[in-house]
Amino acid sequence: MDLKQHINKDRLPAHVAIIMDGNGRWARERGRERNFGHQNGVESVRDTVKAAAEIGIKYLTFFAFSTENWCRPHKEVETLMDLLVKAIGNETPELNEKGVRLNAIGDLESLPERCRQQLNEAIELTESNNRLIVTVALSYSARWEIANATQKIAQKIADRLLQPDEIDEEVFSAHLETASLPDPDLLIRTSGELRLSNFMLWQMAYTELYFTPVFWPDFRRKHFYQAIIDYQRRERRFGKLKPQTAATKNA
Ligand code: IPE
Ligand code: IPE
Ligand code: MG
Repeated sequence: MDLKQHINKDRLPAHVAIIMDGNGRWARERGRERNFGHQNGVESVRDTVKAAAEIGIKYLTFFAFSTENWCRPHKEVETLMDLLVKAIGNETPELNEKGVRLNAIGDLESLPERCRQQLNEAIELTESNNRLIVTVALSYSARWEIANATQKIAQKIADRLLQPDEIDEEVFSAHLETASLPDPDLLIRTSGELRLSNFMLWQMAYTELYFTPVFWPDFRRKHFYQAIIDYQRRERRFGKLKPQTAATKNA
């Protein structure tokens, strides 16, 4: 069955965010080191980006490395950083050709110099593309982001550039890492874990959540399309009542 045919192009989520999880368990099931799982996760990212671009998704965000992930063994962190540099280097020309723009959020200053450099080059090269914005969250955590935004706002108040009563939701959002992105419409988390793990807590106030037991290295376009189809069956109410139909209006 071609799942793509079941997707309603008029009701696409504008922004899909993904918590890529389960690499370690995928590797363990095969009697391999955790890093083998991370390496195989790269193909899943490739396939998902292609799948998203083909149906016309505008924003796709990947949680690639959390602030808390720095506490993993040194060797695993090193390998993850190397993989990142390599993947960005390998993939950027094709992404650029396809009209994909690369973006990054998180405490990028804390990344090793080689990563930051590779990332910045890719971001600059793809700067004028707008078919699909792919954001990678690196050394990112929502509480860090919220504290950081608060610092920036406090500094503006101290410098008399902003009044305390001018702080509203819009002003606060504009100081987050995601200032240029709409809030996610759909969050996908792989590997069966039912939690947010400090990802975009502010932005996901009304995001539809989709959890799948599939481990990230096994995740392919069909899984992505299944998530979109599931999303399209839902009714988003944002605290309001159901949209009134002609039948219910007169009841
Ligand atoms: C996701 O897979 C990748 C990162 C968090 C960097 P994990 O490495 O968390 O794999 P599991 O959850 O231990 O299986
Ligand atoms: C969340 O996965 C972070 C990323 C996918 C980058 P984790 O594997 O770190 O989350 P927990 O520890 O299971 O909550
Ligand atoms: Mg995990």
